[in-house]
Amino acid sequence: MNKLIKIKKIYTPETGSLSFFEAKKDIPFEIKRIYYTYDVPVDIKRGMHAHKDLDQVLWCPYGIIEVVLDNGENKKTYLLDSPNKLLLIGSGIWREVYWKKKGSVLCVAASDYYNEDDYIRNYDTFLNYVKEGYWKDENKL
Ligand code: TYD
Repeated sequence: MNKLIKIKKIYTPETGSLSFFEAKKDIPFEIKRIYYTYDVPVDIKRGMHAHKDLDQVLWCPYGIIEVVLDNGENKKTYLLDSPNKLLLIGSGIWREVYWKKKGSVLCVAASDYYNEDDYIRNYDTFLNYVKEGYWKDENKL
C-alpha cells in the first residue's frame, strides 16, 4: 500500500498535459473525501499524525512537497515533484509533510469521511500502537 506510483500523462504539445486516476483501478480503494492544503509557507512542516484505519492518496498538482513516512520501525522519504506522481499511504503510518516550493498544493483523496477519532496525533502514542501490533503487518514500508 505505501508506495509512490506514476500515473499516465496525456501530453498535447499545443494544449498541455492531463493526468487521471480511477478508484479501485489505479488506487486500491473507493474515495469518500478529497481535501487540499495550500498557502503553506516554504519549509513549514504539516502532518505529524497517523491514522488508525484510513487509506489515502497524496498528489501535488503544483509545486514540490516532501513526505516522510514512518511505520515506527523505518522511515522513507518521497518527493512529490510532478503532477503525475501519487503517494499511497495506508493505516498505521506516521507522516511529516514539508513544503519545498512557494505555492505548492497538496491534494489528498481518502477512503473515509473526516473523523478526528481516527487520528493519532502523539508520536509516543503511535509507537505504543505499533508495539501492541495494532496494524499487524499492514503498515509495512
Ligand atoms: P490535519 O489533518 O491535521 O492537517 P495537516 O495534516 O495538513 O496538518 O487537519 C487540520 C485541521 O483541519 C484539523 O483541525 C482537522 C481539520 N480537518 C477537517 O475538518 N476535515 C478534513 O477532512 C481534514 C483533512 C482536516
